[in-house]
Amino acid sequence: MLAGKRLLLIIGGGIAAYKALELIRLVRSAGGCVTPVLTRAAQQFVTPMAAAALAEQRAYTDLFDLKDEAEMGHIRLSREADLLLVCPATADLLAKMAAGLADDLASTLLLATDKHVMVAPAMNVRMWEHPATQANVATLSARGVHVIAPEVGAMACGEHGPGRLPEPAQLLSAIQARLAPQGPLAGRHALVTAGPTHEPIDPVRYLANRSSGRQGFAIADALASRGARVTLVAGPVALATPAGVRRVDVETAREMEAAVMAALPADLAVLVAAVADWRVDPAPAKRKKGEGAPTLALVENPDILARLAAPGPHRPARVVGFAAETHDVLTHAQAKLAGKGCDMIVANDVSGDVMGGARNTVHLVTADGVESLPEASKEEVAAMLADRFARWFARP
Ligand code: C5P
Repeated sequence: MLAGKRLLLIIGGGIAAYKALELIRLVRSAGGCVTPVLTRAAQQFVTPMAAAALAEQRAYTDLFDLKDEAEMGHIRLSREADLLLVCPATADLLAKMAAGLADDLASTLLLATDKHVMVAPAMNVRMWEHPATQANVATLSARGVHVIAPEVGAMACGEHGPGRLPEPAQLLSAIQARLAPQGPLAGRHALVTAGPTHEPIDPVRYLANRSSGRQGFAIADALASRGARVTLVAGPVALATPAGVRRVDVETAREMEAAVMAALPADLAVLVAAVADWRVDPAPAKRKKGEGAPTLALVENPDILARLAAPGPHRPARVVGFAAETHDVLTHAQAKLAGKGCDMIVANDVSGDVMGGARNTVHLVTADGVESLPEASKEEVAAMLADRFARWFARP
């Protein structure tokens, strides 16, 4: 499935480096070529010889390996690849990438490339959660680097939490989704929003809603498995990133709007997020109990859906909105379809336990009428929706 595709695999110095060797084997079995590059620290965990033997080609370690006229220069090495993957991406490598440092072969290749870059971070949970690492990841993500989120679990250091490298098979799926998308949405970029937004009241409190993000994440997953390149802009939720999906985490409606606009152009936009309609003019310091009941001044948030669906060069070919209603579901959905200018409104009745629940009943409202889907799990609803979206893009 990866025949003729070239992966430049930068192996960082962490205990998870051994999984990178298995990944080389999997990419080779799928028909792809791998050029391994090991940082100096990586060589403490795995040897260039093991990487070269599995890749069936030379492994690079040193910038000065490339000074030889007969060798490829670092520019060529990074440009000849179809994709760069940093795996495992250590806190140090992420920091270097964010800062644009180029003091060894790995960082120089990453700075010199014009190709898509993916990083698979793996490190101790405290290093992962450190604000410096999180800021570096956010910077890289905003630059278009695809961050494969680490998994939660037991770690080699004995701690538990996010920071584990996903299994090589999952990493292969992410590579395949990028290099050899298959399915009816192959070659299409789909943008999905999911989850709630948090609107700060003061530095410790916020306004939020009960959205779990589950329906939106399931839709992102279903679109990716139909071949789409998916960008998922997620509010604060506790969900794993679907395989092959590029995730951008945001907190507020305004951050969500900025992330959505930065992800354009897209062929399809499915805005599932329960965006807070209002934000609070936040207090600079924590509101104190003794100061009397505060009055919260609310300011209207931008309507991301209406902005995206407005005619213009950046409008995705199809824009889908969701409508969570507790009564007169279809009447409101029809009004929203026209009011927001989108191609479809997926209406759901949230008077029960849909928000945060596992099942959903939706009605698809378009200019042609209403189609009601049977009650099903959110994953099944996502699959039915993705099949309908795929029909919009069916090639003759
Ligand atoms: O207007 P209402 O909030 O009911 O519309 C719901 C739809 O609009 C959802 O698709 C939601 O993601 C989107 N929306 C938005 N920006 C807002 C409010 C809602 O994109 N500020």
